[in-house]
Amino acid sequence: MSNQIYTGFWVDRSRHPVLGATWTLSVDRATLLASFLSFIVTTIIVNSLFNIVVFFLYFVRPIRKTENYSSEDVALAKPGICGFLPVDPTVDSLNSLSSRQELYETIDARRYATEKYSKEPARFTTSSPFPVDALPFEIIHNTSCPFDESMCLLGANSAITFDTWFLDSHSHLGINAPPEARVEYRWCSTCTVLNVTARAQVFDDTTYEGKPISSKEPLVEVDLGGQPPFNKNHTFLYRINALDPSGYEVKYVSIVPRLLNVWDPIQPLYVPNASTTLVLIAPNNVAYEQKVFDPVFQATTAGSDPEAWFSDYRFQVIACVDRR
Ligand SMILES: *[C@@H]1O[C@H](CO)[C@@H](O)[C@H](O)[C@H]1NC(C)=O
Ligand SMILES: *[C@@H]1O[C@H](CO)[C@@H](O)[C@H](O)[C@H]1NC(C)=O
Ligand SMILES: *[C@@H]1O[C@H](CO)[C@@H](O)[C@H](O)[C@H]1NC(C)=O
Ligand SMILES: *[C@@H]1O[C@H](CO)[C@@H](O)[C@H](O)[C@H]1NC(C)=O
Repeated sequence: MSNQIYTGFWVDRSRHPVLGATWTLSVDRATLLASFLSFIVTTIIVNSLFNIVVFFLYFVRPIRKTENYSSEDVALAKPGICGFLPVDPTVDSLNSLSSRQELYETIDARRYATEKYSKEPARFTTSSPFPVDALPFEIIHNTSCPFDESMCLLGANSAITFDTWFLDSHSHLGINAPPEARVEYRWCSTCTVLNVTARAQVFDDTTYEGKPISSKEPLVEVDLGGQPPFNKNHTFLYRINALDPSGYEVKYVSIVPRLLNVWDPIQPLYVPNASTTLVLIAPNNVAYEQKVFDPVFQATTAGSDPEAWFSDYRFQVIACVDRR
């Protein structure tokens, strides 16, 4: 991150160059802001680049309240959607603080997604800090298997694709830049359920992490490529949790070319120059009120309670290929 803080006029590129100019900070105040920012960045949000970006978007993006411009119509952020976590260093450890904040952001993000992206009427009305409430994307069913066909559980044309097409850094993402410096970003993700029967081994008479492994709670080893940095030959090792009350458990591995290389996919799952993610979902003893026929969450197994249905699978693996 640059240490430079710009002073003087700042131009909102959505507006006329003259009308869009906004006085930012005086030099004195800029120094104050710089020390404040470095305090915030190094103490609170140091472990997440994303948070820093969001922080800057919140903090710096102007929001117009009316079409008729006057100096009071440009605010640096809407009230109620920006601010800092109150920190009492004598009480809060940084770890508990950041996990609390992460939990809060997860809940908030999920609520935002439900509200702005689902087709059901919203139960809440969160004010959106973004230039568009929801980013456009298209869902395409029955797309072709992005891997070797033998890997796709539901057949050669059963994958699902999510495509944002081209998003504009200015009008969609709100990154204020002159036209020649804007970029377009496209995220296209194709996902499918994998057939891992030939690549999963079930162990039911051993121990794992100090816990006894029995046929009721077996250990599953899935081999879809090793993890060389961790000196592992398998992709997932998971103890099914069936006796204690327990919910879903999710594990994942990814390969992102030139960035993240912890997983070395087997040949049938290798897609050159694309990011690939595997997600293992174990339902454990989640019960459903009705039968479920989804390929991942399928639950048609009767329990002792006539109104509870249990998962037919100990786990399923989803794979997604992202092209950006
Ligand atoms: C996908 O293909 C299946 C079988 O060919 C068909 O039943 C289903 O309607 C298709 N779904 C969509 C959304 O086109
Ligand atoms: C999954 O793969 C195995 C062989 O690896 C094959 O015998 C089985 O029929 C496949 N399952 C489905 C549902 O295609
Ligand atoms: C991985 O597999 C190789 C060859 O099959 C074997 O020599 C090695 O010991 C295995 N490593 C682990 C950690 O299991
Ligand atoms: C992958 O990317 C490299 C460099 O960007 C390129 O030279 C190569 O042709 C690409 N391979 C495929 C299969 O697209």
